[in-house]
Amino acid sequence: MRLIGQHTLITGGSSGIGQAIAYRFAQEGARVTVAGIEDGALEETVQSIHASGGEAIAVNADVRCKSDVERMVSEAIAAFGPIDTLVNSAGVCKPAPFLEIEEEDWDLHIDVNLKGSFLASQAVAKEMSKTGRGSIINISSVNGIASEGDQVHYNASKAGINSLTMSMALELAPLGIRVNGVCPGFIETRLTKPLIDNQEAISAYLKTIPLGRVGLPEEIAAAALFLASQDAAYMTGHSIVVDGGQLIKLS
Ligand SMILES: NC(=O)c1ccc[n+]([C@@H]2O[C@H](COP(=O)([O-])OP(=O)(O)OC[C@H]3O[C@@H](n4cnc5c(N)ncnc54)[C@H](O)[C@@H]3O)[C@@H](O)[C@H]2O)c1
Repeated sequence: MRLIGQHTLITGGSSGIGQAIAYRFAQEGARVTVAGIEDGALEETVQSIHASGGEAIAVNADVRCKSDVERMVSEAIAAFGPIDTLVNSAGVCKPAPFLEIEEEDWDLHIDVNLKGSFLASQAVAKEMSKTGRGSIINISSVNGIASEGDQVHYNASKAGINSLTMSMALELAPLGIRVNGVCPGFIETRLTKPLIDNQEAISAYLKTIPLGRVGLPEEIAAAALFLASQDAAYMTGHSIVVDGGQLIKLS
């Protein structure tokens, strides 16, 4: 119970990595606000936390929209009080060759992944500055550090998030707010399901991962838990890579 008495707000919290973080943080004693755009999945996530004895609410909010984000933060605080941790997990990834990326898909990746993390972080940091404490965790990607083909818009949005993490950490440190990130490698969620379901493609892909397997959302939740906890009290501005060793391999 490392987060007892704390309140965590998680964008994109109704599926995949965000949902695993919601479940783990609730198990560790946090009251959890699960935000996103899929009402049914948000409600199921909250019900499941309640069924395990935890406390959670769902808030519908599109992270691209400033008024939605401001309402999300007000509803969260009205329900569970000051926010101790914000996790920015909302994200999209729609691979396409560079020469074929449509302007609207470029905008979608930058708006959800990068602008959404900025809007939520700014709105929450304004509140955290009143209490003089807080932790923001950006779910980035190894694609923000190295480039993967057919994902120029996604890669650029995640590189932007890594810069956002460092830049916000610098300005928010004097206010008592830590900002860190997690850069997951290849994690089993619906984003990666098309590749996982393709036997030939996945066996070739697994050869690029030294640990030889796909990662689990729970393994990203474990890194996020460390960053949210007192164990990371002296850590700000950095992103932890959780990728089965993928980035250390030359070929
Ligand atoms: N799965 C992986 O291998 C992997 C690897 C690296 C990084 N990531 C990152 O992890 C995060 C979670 O991805 P996931 O794999 O769990 O996939 P996912 O599709 O299950 O999760 C993405 C979540 O974001 C929400 N979302 C999308 N657009 C939104 C919007 N406009 N406003 C609010 N919420 C919105 C979705 O509803 C969903 O709940 C993303 O930021 C993704 O880039 C995933």
